[in-house]
Amino acid sequence: MIRVAVIGAGEWGPNLIRNFHNKQTSEVVWIIDRDAARLDEVQARFPDVQVGENAEQALRDQAVHAVVVATPTSTHYALAKEALERRKHVLVEKPLTTEVKQGLGLLELATRQRLVLMVGHVFVYNLGIRKVKEYLDGGHLGKVYYLSMVRTNLGPIRLDVNAAWDLAAHDLSITNYWLSAEPLSVSAIGGTWINQEVEDAVFATLRYPQGVLVNLHASWLNPRKARDITVVGERRMLTFDDMNLNEPLRIYDKQLNDVRTRPTYVDSFAAFRASIRKGDVTVPKVPPGEPLATQCAHFVECIVTGKQPFTGGREGIAVVRALEAMQRSIRAGGREEQVALSS
Ligand SMILES: NC(=O)c1ccc[n+]([C@@H]2O[C@H](COP(=O)([O-])OP(=O)(O)OC[C@H]3O[C@@H](n4cnc5c(N)ncnc54)[C@H](O)[C@@H]3O)[C@@H](O)[C@H]2O)c1
Repeated sequence: MIRVAVIGAGEWGPNLIRNFHNKQTSEVVWIIDRDAARLDEVQARFPDVQVGENAEQALRDQAVHAVVVATPTSTHYALAKEALERRKHVLVEKPLTTEVKQGLGLLELATRQRLVLMVGHVFVYNLGIRKVKEYLDGGHLGKVYYLSMVRTNLGPIRLDVNAAWDLAAHDLSITNYWLSAEPLSVSAIGGTWINQEVEDAVFATLRYPQGVLVNLHASWLNPRKARDITVVGERRMLTFDDMNLNEPLRIYDKQLNDVRTRPTYVDSFAAFRASIRKGDVTVPKVPPGEPLATQCAHFVECIVTGKQPFTGGREGIAVVRALEAMQRSIRAGGREEQVALSS
């Protein structure tokens, strides 16, 4: 039984508490939040767990094996560092840190002490996202041309990081996983309307190896909650809609006809629409399941077995590296920035 302390019980923390407090493989023994009113609410839901307002209370408890950091991004580094120094395994919510050098410091600390350092890139534990990875690795789509990713909602508005750090972190973790690569360069622009110097919407284009282009739209100032991904390949295309719980994935079988060499003559709008693509659309079955439950179980498994996490320090740093470059590009008015040079 792995004994866990969860630091941060805001919007997201209770989901982590629920998953770790299963009393089979793990239990939550501390919930820490510096907001006393919030602690009262969470205590009502988990009455058998000790609560406290200061992380130190849980960190000095020798009975705690692992610490989960679910506080705002700007606090991740200090809390994770402190927990590793106290010889606790650590799961940090995404994004891992706000700077690459902080992430490298955490990784070095965890490696030296033989502790698990994992980042909550929850989409890597989503069975639909994993199915797409199988299609891509199996060459089902042919050569990948480009990805387009839209992640929007109305709120929640962050004060410590912009919409890219908050939302595009997910898309970068997905893309790095799918392509088994990191971006080479990024150009991005952002708009700041609500709070000074915190972009509410970011539009970014990244170049990955093999000429793959990735376009991201991340915004918390949008009327529609969207989690839309399109992958365009040489032989097939696919869409992944995380808002569609039953049928998130669609595969489009046939590519556009080559209109240059074989022009088709059409004399009506309906015929024109029909000429664009032919072929089946398939809706592969994606088994149900809570990705966060899989992520939490994997963290416990890594602690028990000593396995390397799927989303460890390296994967966390890779996302932060791209976000740092994206931030530089926004500050430089959209100039293309090399990603690798930022670390
Ligand atoms: N994986 C996902 O899909 C997902 C979804 C939402 C949020 N998140 C991540 O989870 C983290 C928290 O997000 P949220 O939406 O719950 O934010 P939130 O603002 O709702 O909650 C954060 C909580 O942390 C507490 N806190 C802040 N600093 C603290 C400290 N030093 N010690 C103890 N408590 C402290 C605050 O009082 C607050 O209750 C962020 O890193 C965010 O990126 C991940």
